[in-house]
Amino acid sequence: MLAEKYRPRTFDQIIGQERAIRTLKWHLDTETPTGKVFLIFGPSGSGKTTLTECAARYWGVDDWDIRLVQSAECDVESLRQLDSESYVYGLGQGGRKCYVIDEIHTVTGRAHDRLLSLLEHLPKHVMVCGTTTELDWSDGTMRSRFAKVYTSKIRAEDVARYLEMVAANERLPIPEDPKWAEKLVKYNGLNIRDHLNELPDRLLAGMAA
Ligand SMILES: Nc1ncnc2c1ncn2[C@@H]1O[C@H](COP(=O)(O)OP(=O)(O)O)[C@@H](O)[C@H]1O
Ligand SMILES: [Mg+2]
Repeated sequence: MLAEKYRPRTFDQIIGQERAIRTLKWHLDTETPTGKVFLIFGPSGSGKTTLTECAARYWGVDDWDIRLVQSAECDVESLRQLDSESYVYGLGQGGRKCYVIDEIHTVTGRAHDRLLSLLEHLPKHVMVCGTTTELDWSDGTMRSRFAKVYTSKIRAEDVARYLEMVAANERLPIPEDPKWAEKLVKYNGLNIRDHLNELPDRLLAGMAA
């Protein structure tokens, strides 16, 4: 899967999310008495999960200690486990570790309350990042626990340049139309994950769009 092969590992490899990166860096560079809690909003395939992973590395978390938790497995029991496990130090700088809860807006009921109590006394060496596509998720009590980070709509020309770079790098057949990448973005949108995963089939079939 090209989307996985080209998943950015550091902030400087991410395209078009300068605002989110600036906000994340500011929070991570700022000393706080408790752990870091972020909520990343944005459309699918805009780089939310990638941003959380890059933020964790920037903060000095070892790859081993970046835990991706799917919201479906975020029940009371697994949150309780996560809570007690969070006190164990990680391998990286200052024993830091990171939990990423994808699609956090689907955590409801008792799990939601459990999550709230976890965030209320998060150890200083722990970072929790929720990602969501839903701006109006949850009540204010939960949302106010998080530092908010918004991903931006990536510019069409930036996505197009990126697809050209990947196509060349992967030695895929480049269409004759010099605007092929612009057209792909125009007709298929800005979801970079979708573009990368469909690129081989599209270009090997000799189609621009
Ligand atoms: N801003 C971006 N810059 C570079 N690649 C991106 C960006 N956004 C998404 N991608 C690509 O799409 C894939 C999926 O991104 P992801 O962070 O999982 O998106 P989201 O969590 O917003 O759905 C990544 O592995 C990467 O290849
Ligand atoms: Mg994601």
